[in-house]
Amino acid sequence: MPGAINVRKFLIAVTVAASSASAQDADTIRQYQFEPASSGYQIVMKAVPRPVAGDREVLVRVHATSLNRRDLNMLRREYDDNAGYAGSIPLSDGAGEVVAVGKNVSRFKVGDRVAGTFFEKWIDGAPSEAALLSDRGGNAGGMLSEVIVTHEDGLVSIPEHLSYEEAATLPCAAVTAWAGLFKRGRIEPGQYVLLEGTGGVSVFGLIFSHALGAKPIITSSRDDKLQRAMDMGAIGTANYRNNPNWHLAAKEISGGHGVDQVLDVGGRDTLPKALEILAYGGHIALIGGLTGYGSDVPTNAIMWINATVSGVYVGSRADFEAMNAFISEHQVRPLIDRVFEFEEAPAAFELMESGDFMGKIVIRL
Ligand SMILES: NC(=O)c1ccc[n+]([C@@H]2O[C@H](COP(=O)([O-])OP(=O)(O)OC[C@H]3O[C@@H](n4cnc5c(N)ncnc54)[C@H](OP(=O)(O)O)[C@@H]3O)[C@@H](O)[C@H]2O)c1
Repeated sequence: MPGAINVRKFLIAVTVAASSASAQDADTIRQYQFEPASSGYQIVMKAVPRPVAGDREVLVRVHATSLNRRDLNMLRREYDDNAGYAGSIPLSDGAGEVVAVGKNVSRFKVGDRVAGTFFEKWIDGAPSEAALLSDRGGNAGGMLSEVIVTHEDGLVSIPEHLSYEEAATLPCAAVTAWAGLFKRGRIEPGQYVLLEGTGGVSVFGLIFSHALGAKPIITSSRDDKLQRAMDMGAIGTANYRNNPNWHLAAKEISGGHGVDQVLDVGGRDTLPKALEILAYGGHIALIGGLTGYGSDVPTNAIMWINATVSGVYVGSRADFEAMNAFISEHQVRPLIDRVFEFEEAPAAFELMESGDFMGKIVIRL
């Protein structure tokens, strides 16, 4: 997919000594930090002292990170609560190798291949407020750093068949799609699944539902992306840009049955349409706000069709581990659109802003 980048909006200031080759042992490491810019933030590369692993902490040499829409929203400073991120490390998602362990670490050893969990402190069950405030790349430190230090509880082992670049796509988008379909939706083979657009969460929804033997139907603003989705196992598609009644097209693809599962990443404009074509007993996972949040939700329709509506905010470490077991069992791989080098990180944000990608955008370190 072409990814022409014309405008360098997110400037990079390289003030660095350490090279990536020596990051394993050097006294200083390279990392990006948010810095205030004329509008929102920019990301700036810094040389900082190499972190040290304390009690129950692990040092990870990060080999790859990936972007989510949230990271772009943060750069633009679109969230109410991210006024104080100056100096913190961007990006929730990353994978790498354990290079040192502190005292009393029992879950990992040097050489293990790991990924960070989106929430450093959400282990299992329902989340606590403290767990939800441990989001990496936000309230907790992010992954766009050659080396990170983290509590051993905030890591999972990555599936053996995946590269670091592939594993780096999992913590946010994949776990969210997993939680929406499997944990909350209890998806079954043969069910019709509606996926909105071809971004990170939706393409993982396509990959997972196809691997399970469900019937994914996906929308996009671009026919070339829809063709690619068919090649990946979609049973039907609709172009939401050309066809304002894309939801009726989706219902027709299901033979009039309607969709049993929806990962609603669109929000305000897509939710009422998704509800209109929900099958009896169907499930909608409320995930995103690409068209804005808030909606005129027809509560009577939800009752009439015995629907379930779930709020999903990524998931716990246990969800990540359950998803990894599925990924290993079915040998599934994420769809990576493009891999950028560490020095090119601002261009990765520009590609996300352009919309000229499908699946995931990765930065290699
Ligand atoms: N609740 C959570 O835990 C959670 C986790 C992850 C993401 N999210 C949210 O979910 C949304 C998607 O995140 P992401 O990281 O997957 O985004 P992304 O990778 O940036 O995907 C964006 C894609 O969505 C599609 N899109 C844009 N407007 C659309 C519309 N009106 N209708 C249907 N599709 C549309 C476009 O696909 P085409 O180019 O194919 O048209 C676009 O490329 C965001 O709002 C994000 O904040 C929430």
